[in-house]
Amino acid sequence: MAQKLFLLPGDGIGTEIMAEVAKIIAYLNSQGETDFELDSGLAGGAAYDKYGVAISDEDMGKALAADAVIFGAVGGPKWDNVPYEHRPEAALLRLRKELAVFANLRPAICYPALADASALKRELIEGLDILIVRELTGGVYFGEPKTITDLGNGQKRAIDTQVYETYEIDRIARVAFDLARTRGHKVHSADKKNVMKSGVLWDEVVKTVAKDYSDVTMHHILADNCAMQLVRNPRQFDVIVTDNLFGDILSDTAAMLTGSLGMLPSASLGAPDATTGKRKAFYEPVHGSAPDIAGQGIANPIAMIASFAMALRYSFGMIELANRVEAAIAGVLGDGLRTGDIAQDNRRTIGTEAMGAAILAKLK
Ligand code: IPM
Ligand code: MG
Repeated sequence: MAQKLFLLPGDGIGTEIMAEVAKIIAYLNSQGETDFELDSGLAGGAAYDKYGVAISDEDMGKALAADAVIFGAVGGPKWDNVPYEHRPEAALLRLRKELAVFANLRPAICYPALADASALKRELIEGLDILIVRELTGGVYFGEPKTITDLGNGQKRAIDTQVYETYEIDRIARVAFDLARTRGHKVHSADKKNVMKSGVLWDEVVKTVAKDYSDVTMHHILADNCAMQLVRNPRQFDVIVTDNLFGDILSDTAAMLTGSLGMLPSASLGAPDATTGKRKAFYEPVHGSAPDIAGQGIANPIAMIASFAMALRYSFGMIELANRVEAAIAGVLGDGLRTGDIAQDNRRTIGTEAMGAAILAKLK
């Protein structure tokens, strides 16, 4: 039976990089290696321009019905002044929340060919392989109350609410420990328990979960120290599990260790369905819509293509094919091909389409 992929390219470079993934899917389908049924919709500013909302109910329904959602990026200055509830990012938050994809996996891998593109010295990042496991559907992003109140005396008060319950921490911790078992058997749990009650509970629950994984070492780390250690000695980390907000920040830092934000894919997974065992899943690059370079055909499609590889791996169990797509990416980098964001010095660079075509050629 065909598997349903729902593509949401979004805004800015989202549409350009998604086009390269679509070519890879078309090729794999033509070879009978996959049997994906594709549909696509609008998200972010593109949806706002057409429907007046960041994502339509119809597209939301299609996302919920799909076996996997492949997402580009949303946002741009054009929509800076749209009402807050319809801002492009609202599409992303609604998708994450309604798909209930609470576990966001953000691997930061340093490709040997790119070690010199990192802002850090080669000797610090060679061989780097970190997995950030970010809680994605709770915390301060979604907590209520979330308000700005006019105090009437020329002052306003803004409130965001950081809130976590035991089950939310327990399930994300289990994802992190399970993954650590397939890698370096080490989990760092990052929070701010020195100032936040949610951090105290976070640490308590993660430590309880750790007892079920005696083969995995658990280290507690304060989130600010974690940020510092990521740039001081990043290879000390294997899996980092953390909340929604700290995960957002720490994953951008980890991304840059690898040379460019344009390299980092992500997978967001829900809980397995009680009867079918299937997980809702959402795949997106960690980078944004890059309005400054949109429309120029120069964006790096690697994070987007690597996100599709994660879909092959985590949603469809096509491990061998996922490995081949990832090897094709490493291969073109090894050949010296670079988009502008990962080019060193005056090396000649290629555009989005040429990079997509080179990866596809390697795959063949
Ligand atoms: C990310 C992004 C989003 C987030 C924005 C676009 C809402 O920064 O996926 O990391 O903060 O989660
Ligand atoms: Mg972010």
